[in-house]
Amino acid sequence: LDNGVARTPPMGWNSWNTFGCNINEALIRQMADAMVSSGMREAGYQYVVVDDCWMNPNRDSSGNLQGDPSRFPSGMKALGDYIHSKGLKFGIYQAPLAETCAQYFDSYPGSTGALNHEEQDARQFAAWGVDFLKYDWCSPSGTIDDQVRTFAKMRDALKATGRPIVYSINSNSIHDKTGPRRNWGDIANMWRTTEDITNKWDTGQTNGYPMGVQNIVNVTVPLWSYAKPGAFNDQDMMEVGRGGMTDTEMRSHFALWAVMASPLIAGNDLRNMNAATSTILKNANLIAINQDPLGVQAIEVSNDGTRRVLAKRLSNGEVAVALFNQGSTTTTVSTNGFSVGLEGVSFTLRDVWTDAVTGTSGNISASVPAHGTVVYRASGSGWPTSTTTTTTTTTTTTTT
Ligand code: GLA
Repeated sequence: LDNGVARTPPMGWNSWNTFGCNINEALIRQMADAMVSSGMREAGYQYVVVDDCWMNPNRDSSGNLQGDPSRFPSGMKALGDYIHSKGLKFGIYQAPLAETCAQYFDSYPGSTGALNHEEQDARQFAAWGVDFLKYDWCSPSGTIDDQVRTFAKMRDALKATGRPIVYSINSNSIHDKTGPRRNWGDIANMWRTTEDITNKWDTGQTNGYPMGVQNIVNVTVPLWSYAKPGAFNDQDMMEVGRGGMTDTEMRSHFALWAVMASPLIAGNDLRNMNAATSTILKNANLIAINQDPLGVQAIEVSNDGTRRVLAKRLSNGEVAVALFNQGSTTTTVSTNGFSVGLEGVSFTLRDVWTDAVTGTSGNISASVPAHGTVVYRASGSGWPTSTTTTTTTTTTTTTT
């Protein structure tokens, strides 16, 4: 969506994975504080997103949404002001139909959807200083045409407010026909590709509830051509630091979100991250790959059912090469420069986890543990990259 925001995948934190409906303003403020003190803000994380269960069950006498007075006694505007005062951005959750998903998960009474209040809710969000809206379908019914019409309505309502607001949609919740049934890039900045994630590597689901990390990647890989600045496939909030996976699997999870140009929305408790979690989420090499201005998603260049290779083109001509071992024992995963689109015959490889730089010609390979992903930032050399570059250089030299 060309609305000036999300030119690279949005980065932030969302309350749902860890806290579900157990949220209040003190918690969200603590998370904003922790975003700063943990170094997450410095690493690039920006949006603090309050997910479902923030609402008063009743609109006010003018039909305006209100925060739950017991959980958010200072009001949503004050919360947004606090988040902004930390140099961060404010995100909030709403659903397009009569009720939010809380109706299913926690029978929380405050699940007042935007139905017939779209413009009013958009104006309310803008007035509260909202910078990011997560808009979640939450119904088993509705055709694809219903979804397109309804999601587009809020897109237009947000635009009409004049405030730049990242528009994040999910067409899947509780929906019988889950999955990326169209390219939503004309409607939203990011769209979920699957049902909800859980903190497991593999749940055996192809696209049902709940999805493991690898299951989500399988759905999203074929959608590579949809990703571009302003429009990204959303693999859901991350489960890094939430238990249920080995450190190797968590590293893979983060690496795969990074190369897939998925939004990087942390879902763990930022107030008490262990060293492994903090190191993974703040990996500067992977964040740079994810945030590369070209904004493309990795393409899978080979997959033998165990050894998978994904390549993400970067704006400076380098390529991020992910060597992913889907199998259950350590194995060597290999590719070559031609397959990943690198020019030249010899390659410089920077391992994103160790920062070690090696040179190679011919194969690009690594020994990869079970469920692991080795990522190299690779550049090629060995023959002229292009004649245009040579011409430009000559002209410049002459002029000087
Ligand atoms: C749906 C969404 C989740 C979360 C919950 C909240 O399941 O997919 O990410 O927002 O609703 O109820």
